[in-house]
Amino acid sequence: MKVVVIGCGYVGLGTGLALALTGHEVAFVDLDEARVSRLARGRAPFYEPGLAEALHAARNRTRFTTDYRQALDRAEASFIAVGTPPTPEGAADLSFLRKAADGLAENAAGGGLLVAVKSTVPPGTTRALAGRLERRRPDVAWQVAANPEFLRQGHVLEDSLYPFRFVVGADRAETADRLERLYGKLIHGDFPTPTFVAGPNPSQPQDSPTLPRAVPVFRTSPETAELAKYAANAFLAARISLINEIANICDLVGADVVEVAGVVGSDPRVGPRFLGAGLGYGGSCLPKDVLALCRLAEKVGYAPRLLRAVHRVNADQPGRIIARLDRLLDGLGGTRVALLGLSFKAGTADLRGAPSLGLVSGLVARGAEVRIHDPVALDGVRGILPAGASGCASVGRAFTEADAAILATEWPEYQDLDWPGLRRRMCRPVLMDCRNALDPVRMTEAGFVYVGVGRGDTVGPRGRPAATVETAREPNLLDDHTL
Ligand code: UGA
Repeated sequence: MKVVVIGCGYVGLGTGLALALTGHEVAFVDLDEARVSRLARGRAPFYEPGLAEALHAARNRTRFTTDYRQALDRAEASFIAVGTPPTPEGAADLSFLRKAADGLAENAAGGGLLVAVKSTVPPGTTRALAGRLERRRPDVAWQVAANPEFLRQGHVLEDSLYPFRFVVGADRAETADRLERLYGKLIHGDFPTPTFVAGPNPSQPQDSPTLPRAVPVFRTSPETAELAKYAANAFLAARISLINEIANICDLVGADVVEVAGVVGSDPRVGPRFLGAGLGYGGSCLPKDVLALCRLAEKVGYAPRLLRAVHRVNADQPGRIIARLDRLLDGLGGTRVALLGLSFKAGTADLRGAPSLGLVSGLVARGAEVRIHDPVALDGVRGILPAGASGCASVGRAFTEADAAILATEWPEYQDLDWPGLRRRMCRPVLMDCRNALDPVRMTEAGFVYVGVGRGDTVGPRGRPAATVETAREPNLLDDHTL
């Protein structure tokens, strides 16, 4: 089928490339000329594992343009994958979506056109968009569906080729049928695994290792599909805030949240994933979508108490870590802190909503100098970092004469650093592992005072509580429970 994808961000490229790799002809439209010309030369516009290889593999079935008319020539289906960034009030800004709708209305040829809305939009948006298209171009047989996307940055190709589910929100069965047909090969796993992805997602339903079961397709109303997307991100965010709240309690009673999460997650009703305590969730989706859902709820007369608390716990997490480091170092004024990892999570260079940025500005505000290393995210940080923070090309440079080091993003390559060597470069031995990604025993053997998030006692070199730094307060649990 001839398909148009509007928007060449993570969602648009993931969707369009998955369709191209399963046999469709895909024209990508984006108004950003620099991005389009980069893509047309086969170059990835941002850091994303496997993207350059996927562009190469799909090159004979893809083209990139800024011109809607050219893209829409003989197209049968279109996907809207433009951003819906937050307004100052936290609602979803739909101006890019309106532009995309107008681009379709002004340039669609006659006949029929399927329009799938992949962007995350508040309930009612897809229906309103259908109305706008029908009013502007009554001669076109529009078939409009809400079709939210659930891919993760850092796993764009894997998640686009092997999604957990498809959600098709359409009033008419005919519209849903067409969209389902378009996704047919992806639904049935009917394509060879490309070399640039590891293969089906481990959590994707499988009947046997060789015959993947069909990906579930949820057919719903447009409003249900739209809300399901917000609900999915709200659930993920709530899990993270809940485990962070448990971690904060662990710190006060001397328990280890990693072990607690292991116990809790072994219950199949809960499951083990997304129970990583740390700095809190960031990125361009979870923070924005939780707040947009709050706004939406309030607009329709419901006070979302739990969602507001999810946001507040998340927003407070970096501050708690700064306060802890301040106590450990007996004041941050005049100290030097090495920060490992700036992107909002490993596998991406994206800094949108990165909780590490809150750490950096908080540390600098308290008088620390922050020296940052990140394997991919340091390009273009110059305008973003406050005075007092700077990027370092090597980890060694960041650690030189540091009073403390913080692991803020769990890049896998940080596991293999020469940790004893890094310790020797520092003035003081404090290592705060804000992702609970490092092995406390290995780190203490390397000479660090290791501090995780919610991991109970602060441990000094060779496993002894460190005299020079705070130890977890001896919990006074006997007040209420005299034995
Ligand atoms: C998220 C969702 O996971 C996707 O399903 C969704 O499609 C996407 O938003 C979107 O709406 O477009 P993403 O923003 O790529 O994907 O990031 P996640 O992998 O969900 O991570 C979000 C944040 O949570 C990161 O800062 C990560 O470090 C943090 N996190 C994750 C934790 O703090 N603990 C965990 O256990 C897991």
